[in-house]
Amino acid sequence: MRKYIVAGNWKMNKSLAEGIRLAEEVNAAVEKAGELKCEVVIAPPFLHLTEVSKVVGKKVSLAAQNCAAEASGAYTGEVSAGMLQSAGIPYVITGHSERRTYYGETDAILAKKTAQALASGLKVIFCIGEELSQRDSGKYFETVKSQIENGLFQLSAAEFKNIVIAYEPVWAIGTGRTATSGQAQEVHAFIRKILAGKYGQQVADDVAILYGGSCNENNAGELFAQPDIDGGLIGGASLTAEKFIRIVTAF
Ligand code: 13P
Repeated sequence: MRKYIVAGNWKMNKSLAEGIRLAEEVNAAVEKAGELKCEVVIAPPFLHLTEVSKVVGKKVSLAAQNCAAEASGAYTGEVSAGMLQSAGIPYVITGHSERRTYYGETDAILAKKTAQALASGLKVIFCIGEELSQRDSGKYFETVKSQIENGLFQLSAAEFKNIVIAYEPVWAIGTGRTATSGQAQEVHAFIRKILAGKYGQQVADDVAILYGGSCNENNAGELFAQPDIDGGLIGGASLTAEKFIRIVTAF
């Protein structure tokens, strides 16, 4: 049985003090909620990770939002997957559309980052998703297929155990325009089919595929009820503990 996951991507938000406070609030809400159907992950900025790790318990896992494509060396400003592992951070997000668009991260770079993360013992939340023009021209299947083939298909079936996929249509991110549950389910089922073709049905059935893009406390329940949607990667609504916990408990 695959895992359900709700992950909050804080992006570049919150001062250190505000981040610690939000993490404390999320942790308290998760503790209060009792038995959950999903794993809860939060992804604060790099600087906040070790401080936040001191205020969350076992029921809240941490993710970095990015890692370097190289293991170590003269790469000013970068943070390696090994450093994250050494700080006790279990997850890293790779391939977010904001990294692809604003920082020129290609499929080839993302394949290297993902390989570094896995080699360091991290689990990876690998993001894919089409832009509006690709959605409108009906090319969204091609786009997500090539992002998966070029970003992940260098991995073995065994390595895939540590991969989570997040489908985030770019046109839905931060726009308030969520994909309908039908649109999201269609792509999630397609992703699982591609994975089954390459790695076999068992691997495909075991991979958690999250939806991201204006997912909030009002639409999460319907999205998560779809058979191939295993949770969410949440941006804006993860910045308020009360909204985030309503998404966490929306299954
Ligand atoms: P929003 O939930 O703000 O649309 O962001 C989604 C996202 O990019 C999560 O990684």
